Amino acid sequence: MPGDRVVWMATGAYAEYTACPAEKAIKVPSSIPEKHAAAAILQGLTALTLVREAHKVEKGDHVLVHAAAGGVGLWLCQILKAIGATTIGTASTAEKCQLALDNGADHMIDYSKDSVPEKVKEICGSGGVKVVFDGVGKSTFEGSMEAVGRKGSMISFGNASGAVPPVTIAYFSHLSLLHFQVWARGC
Ligand SMILES: NC(=O)c1ccc[n+]([C@@H]2O[C@H](COP(=O)([O-])OP(=O)(O)OC[C@H]3O[C@@H](n4cnc5c(N)ncnc54)[C@H](OP(=O)(O)O)[C@@H]3O)[C@@H](O)[C@H]2O)c1
Repeated sequence: MPGDRVVWMATGAYAEYTACPAEKAIKVPSSIPEKHAAAAILQGLTALTLVREAHKVEKGDHVLVHAAAGGVGLWLCQILKAIGATTIGTASTAEKCQLALDNGADHMIDYSKDSVPEKVKEICGSGGVKVVFDGVGKSTFEGSMEAVGRKGSMISFGNASGAVPPVTIAYFSHLSLLHFQVWARGC
């Protein structure tokens, strides 16, 4: 209806004014501020599809979330708390660690001080996590592979630190991963 507040997502949406097909516009309920609606359409839906479709997280699962104080990371912390999973987050500063804890993370690793795979083993025991959600890419890829447990999943959905260098199929053969997935434009 004319005057409705709406969100939509597409190439060309990052602009002050834009035209969009009416059927692609999603009405924003009056209780939701515009900045929350704008964040939800990309970062929130990404987080939701990661935990529902890329790897269906169950209550009690241990989950490693890189950049837990970033946009997608903060959504993941909240959704995983609602599911009843145990979230281990990573961040670069004490302030960011506190922000993620305030949003539902159960454990935080300040990676500027501690080794992520070692801390994950301390928290989970030798088994590692059920799933890693890695939106950081180049700087975290190998640590993610060390942190994931037997028959777990590694979901690579972004490259905030740069692209992961090419790997061969043989790289995966010494791991007991069940599932490696690149989640590209998942929502
Ligand atoms: N596949 C999809 O559908 C999809 C959808 C949305 C976003 N993404 C991707 O997911 C990633 C995260 O998105 P976001 O919206 O959460 O981003 P964001 O809010 O900008 O957070 C990114 C975080 O990455 C960490 N980081 C580590 N190394 C970094 C570096 N060299 N430069 C910049 N940041 C670095 C930072 O946290 P620390 O300081 O704590 O390390 C930063 O807060 C991006 O690569 C984005 O393109 C993918």
